Amino acid sequence: EAAEKGGYEHFMLKEIYEQPKAVRDTISPRLNKDNTAIVLNELKWTKQYVEAFNKVYIIACGTAYHAGLVGKYYIEKLARIPVEIDIASEFRYRDPIIDDHTLTIVISQSGETSDTLAALKESKRLGAKTLAVTNVVGSSIAREADQVMYTWAGPEIAVASTKAYTTQLVTMFILAMYMSSLKGTISPERTHELLTELRHLPDQVGRTLEDVEPIKAFAKNYAYNNDVFYIGRSLDYYVALEGALKLKEISYIHAEAYAAGELKHGTLALIESGVPVIALATQKSVYEKTLSNIKEVKARDAVIIGIAAADDNELEKYVDHVIKVPTTDELLIPLLTVVPLQLLAYYAAITRGCDVDKPRNLAKSVTVE
Ligand code: G6P
Repeated sequence: EAAEKGGYEHFMLKEIYEQPKAVRDTISPRLNKDNTAIVLNELKWTKQYVEAFNKVYIIACGTAYHAGLVGKYYIEKLARIPVEIDIASEFRYRDPIIDDHTLTIVISQSGETSDTLAALKESKRLGAKTLAVTNVVGSSIAREADQVMYTWAGPEIAVASTKAYTTQLVTMFILAMYMSSLKGTISPERTHELLTELRHLPDQVGRTLEDVEPIKAFAKNYAYNNDVFYIGRSLDYYVALEGALKLKEISYIHAEAYAAGELKHGTLALIESGVPVIALATQKSVYEKTLSNIKEVKARDAVIIGIAAADDNELEKYVDHVIKVPTTDELLIPLLTVVPLQLLAYYAAITRGCDVDKPRNLAKSVTVE
């Protein structure tokens, strides 16, 4: 087993560090040389085929569901098709409205999660076209779906998903860009701009792993708190959900992610002196709004760790510490902001002496209901 860990203490840490390669392997076969077009040989859709969809469903569990939330944002923003997203165990029992103009996308690292597989079968029965986004070639979900896009993350062993998540995000981005180019919903200039950022993304993921000492120090400081809150708006909120899940899964610290604007409707009551709040602020359209939410928690004496892009010189004025990630297009920044959150969870769990790769009560793949 030590050999399989390739010198890392845990599979989870190894898999965090494999993300630049995993993301590169997922992007490279699908991006043309001059960064002007997505080439999806596995789908070969036509304009007519995409235009026939009047609704997309995204269905998944756990971390894959969090990737789905980002996927919904991408498809709506870029391809302008309404997307509904649901947790597989909810979807399969709620009599969903589906017909042959629906595209159902299921996301699953293992391709074996029983609720996701059942939701896929139910979608097919109701007439939807189906697409699986999965990491395991020949898995049950890959075989059941009409079409498959593989995430090329390589085997993921740690129960807490890391590189599968980042490759799922990038796959959903590629899919949304592909749909938008067929539909003509974004200009060739914007396409080129986004695809150039996509080309640089693997190196930027690598840069987020260069200086982890401050993250280790924060994790040590906060490892014995009972609660940690994660806040953000828009895409930052979806990354916050994933960051909180990571912390719960492996360190057993109670963590809650909140849409920053929703705090005042309840959760603000839990913010008291010294409570750690991780605040993501990378989305320009809601930046000012997020700042005012940050000020609200600061006024209650929370200890705030801000997560920002490298070119942000504002956030540090309002928070206790800042972790910066490389600057990229704000659509792609979730692939960078999630990395320090994975590391925070990892080092908090280590500090508490938890079994990082095999957390209590959890399984890598849930194949029974
Ligand atoms: C389990 C794992 C999670 C994973 C979820 C969905 O709960 O512990 O890490 O996100 O299942 O798994 P899937 O293989 O369908 O992505």
